[in-house]
Amino acid sequence: MSLVTTKDMFQKAYEGGYAIGAFNVNNMEIIQGITEAAMEEKAPLILQVSAGARKYAKHVYLMKLIEAAIEDAKNQGVDLPIAVHLDHGDDFAICKSCIDGGFTSVMIDGSKHSFADNIALTKQVVEYAHDKGVTVEGELGKLAGVEDDVNVSDADAQFTNPAEVEEFVEKTGVDSLAIAIGTSHGAYKFKPGQKPQLRFDILDKITQRLPGFPIVLHGASSVIPEFVQKVNRYGGKMPDAIGIPEEMLRQAAKSAVCKINIDSDLRLAMTASIREHFAEHPDHFDPRQYLTPARTAIKDMVKRKLVNVLGCSGKI
Ligand code: G3H
Ligand code: 13P
Ligand code: ZN
Repeated sequence: MSLVTTKDMFQKAYEGGYAIGAFNVNNMEIIQGITEAAMEEKAPLILQVSAGARKYAKHVYLMKLIEAAIEDAKNQGVDLPIAVHLDHGDDFAICKSCIDGGFTSVMIDGSKHSFADNIALTKQVVEYAHDKGVTVEGELGKLAGVEDDVNVSDADAQFTNPAEVEEFVEKTGVDSLAIAIGTSHGAYKFKPGQKPQLRFDILDKITQRLPGFPIVLHGASSVIPEFVQKVNRYGGKMPDAIGIPEEMLRQAAKSAVCKINIDSDLRLAMTASIREHFAEHPDHFDPRQYLTPARTAIKDMVKRKLVNVLGCSGKI
């Protein structure tokens, strides 16, 4: 059984100048596509589960599917190290439930609270988690969303303040820290005409204050134009979907950033594949007919990330 925490993964990633992909999972095909890619690339992996995913698929199904993927890899001669992580835990209760339910890592996202309240909440989760050998990710700063219509000075105020990071890490005991440097969730990260930009200067300042400490990037999908175009070509409507260029993420992966979160790119890959399939085979109605290529699309997207962006192929 190779369910692992993120501790060793992050240390090796930091020292090796690469990052681990944290991919969101919601069903069997997504889990199979991701783990098959990691198996073939011999890459360490974080599978993360949001509150919405637990509601959709149920905790126990996702846990058993992940265990099945590990067993399947073993049967094929690969000991695949997988951390199972709660994505954006909102309160102590959901973190406790995931820790008690076998997750090896949790995120407590206290970023919407005041600095003091974020510290208090994160510390409470860390104490419970560490007692059970589970690692904890905290967050400082707010990820901007284009839908929030933030102006430049508002956006500046939301970036992680480097002056706060040492106190936060010291007082909470967290194992990794998610920061806001210009990424955002979803498929619409920048306005049309806006130049995608990440604040590497802020990342540098944080790294100087926390040497050797693993940093996490959320909202790090690239929203690759080829996939957006495919969705739109086959009846979708996603105008102006824009993500973080892959070369920027590659640069981040070589730094203190040890975990890069990817969900939207998986959604796009799967949706583009299914739309294409239905357009070309309007007579098909057996879910296996369109979910087989959709699963392959997930696998191909994850391979692309492992090789082009994360640099973690061959690191198990
Ligand atoms: O950060 C959010 C992830 O993309 C998960 O999204 O809450 O819709 O499952 P979700
Ligand atoms: P994307 O929406 O950019 O894929 O980000 C996912 C994420 O941060 C999950 O926590
Ligand atoms: Zn996120």
